[in-house]
Amino acid sequence: MNILLCVTGGIAAYKACDLVSLARKSGAEVRVAMTPNATRFVDPISFQALSGQAVITDVFQESASGDINHIAWAQWADVVVVAPATANVIGKLAAGLADDAVTTMIMAVPAGIPIIIAPAMNTHMWLNPVVQRNLGWLEDLGRYHRVEPVSKRLACGDEGPGGLADPAAILQRALDEAR
Ligand SMILES: Cc1cc2nc3c(=O)[nH]c(=O)nc-3n(C[C@H](O)[C@H](O)[C@H](O)COP(=O)(O)O)c2cc1C
Repeated sequence: MNILLCVTGGIAAYKACDLVSLARKSGAEVRVAMTPNATRFVDPISFQALSGQAVITDVFQESASGDINHIAWAQWADVVVVAPATANVIGKLAAGLADDAVTTMIMAVPAGIPIIIAPAMNTHMWLNPVVQRNLGWLEDLGRYHRVEPVSKRLACGDEGPGGLADPAAILQRALDEAR
């Protein structure tokens, strides 16, 4: 099982490290792509060490194999997981934008490969109707699947929905939806 993990720039990015470890223990291979903002929360070297693979943070990053990274990685994946998924990246996916390594890679994912979105954000961001509309619209396309955020006391101090789902639950959903 090949899991392409896309990490975006939220405070829960460190929890994606657990997700990589759990996935590898389950026997999956994991490759990690990050938005530039995600690298402000967790250094790519952590994901490189945990996944045992180079990490892509830039569309124009050199490729050791000579492949075009975003195309090769998108075609390698059996399932794509975006965790944590920021409000920003959910919006960019819904708008069809591809201006960083994560959104460009997801744009290139072949039909039939499921894309799991695990949002994490402040409660008011999560409840913002634009975020809800964007995610609902993506789900209606049939290939995007949400893992509902949990309700808890969030890092920002607010209490309510918006916490990243348990990494084990995200992994299980990815394995369930994978081709
Ligand atoms: C300390 C801090 C924590 C943040 N946490 C989140 C978060 O959990 N979810 C979110 O959607 N945005 C969060 N943001 C805002 C995003 O970092 C910002 O929208 C950024 O543009 C997202 O970039 P990306 O989607 O390209 O990774 C946070 C910003 C800061 C400074």
